[in-house]
Amino acid sequence: MDQANTLRTLYENQDGLAPNVSNMRTRVFSFTSGKGGVGKTSIVSNLAIELTRSGNRVMIFDADLGLANIDVMLGLNCRYNLTHLLNGEMRLNDILAKGPEGILILPASSGVEEMVNLTDEQKNVLLSEMEAVGSQIDYLLIDTSAGINGNVMYFNTSAHETMIVVTPEPTSITDAYALIKVMSQNYQHKRFQILINQAQNETSALDVYKNLLTVSDRYLSVSLNYLGHIPHDPQLKRCVMRQKAAVAAAPESPFSKAIRALSERVQGLMIQPHATGNAVFFWRTMFESQTA
Ligand SMILES: Nc1ncnc2c1ncn2[C@@H]1O[C@H](COP(=O)(O)OP(=O)(O)OP(=O)(O)O)[C@@H](O)[C@H]1O
Ligand SMILES: [Mg+2]
Repeated sequence: MDQANTLRTLYENQDGLAPNVSNMRTRVFSFTSGKGGVGKTSIVSNLAIELTRSGNRVMIFDADLGLANIDVMLGLNCRYNLTHLLNGEMRLNDILAKGPEGILILPASSGVEEMVNLTDEQKNVLLSEMEAVGSQIDYLLIDTSAGINGNVMYFNTSAHETMIVVTPEPTSITDAYALIKVMSQNYQHKRFQILINQAQNETSALDVYKNLLTVSDRYLSVSLNYLGHIPHDPQLKRCVMRQKAAVAAAPESPFSKAIRALSERVQGLMIQPHATGNAVFFWRTMFESQTA
């Protein structure tokens, strides 16, 4: 589809409603993990659709350069990406891709690698473009790459909430702990939402959470909130192979049901009082913390 019409079509799809330009409270959530392959992209892409079904306008920032990107997972063909915006070749509306059920995707590509070293001009381009588009978005979900690099840290610390995705695998738990430790000690980030993926049941998910909590309580001064768990579900792989979102192709699967419950919880999260931001605030905070 013509990406230049993405936003116009989005609003036409919503019963001809005018964009809500007064919405300056976009909630920005990053999904991160330390260890790769734990389910961030699967969760973000399906959660975005569920949030949309509840009447929200959702944008995913695909900040992951890994192989299983959002666009691939959803069978989209993104022609342009962040690099085109940062080079001044394209406007934000032109590079945004439209995903299932009206979600918007800001594709990453190599633009993300440059984030740490953007020129002032590039930062201004991004901020002013976000000013126009970001104010019409209710949720900005950031799918970070695996690892603990500068960009991941900036995205996480600038978001309203950091969702740490953890599986019961010991390496996932230790990597999640390492991420929490670095964010807390080097970036003074103290509040985390823990989301357990691929657990066999709630009891084993809670065991993973308690593990993290015990070690964190002993060595770090952080607050870990249990955001819930998503079961291991073989149906998800079949959806990924068909490049379909599970909540659309297998809505009654255990994975999809858990995503619906997650969507409810996410919408009920109380944003911290000082977090008065929106999508522009997110980028500005990130740039400022880079120069601090
Ligand atoms: N709850 C689940 N049940 C079954 N399979 C799952 C579940 N969650 C994720 N997977 C599978 O695990 C694999 C990795 O998932 P995904 O690509 O979402 O992880 P990721 O954290 O985004 O990875 P990366 O760090 O490489 O970006 C995929 O094949 C996906 O289908
Ligand atoms: Mg991923």
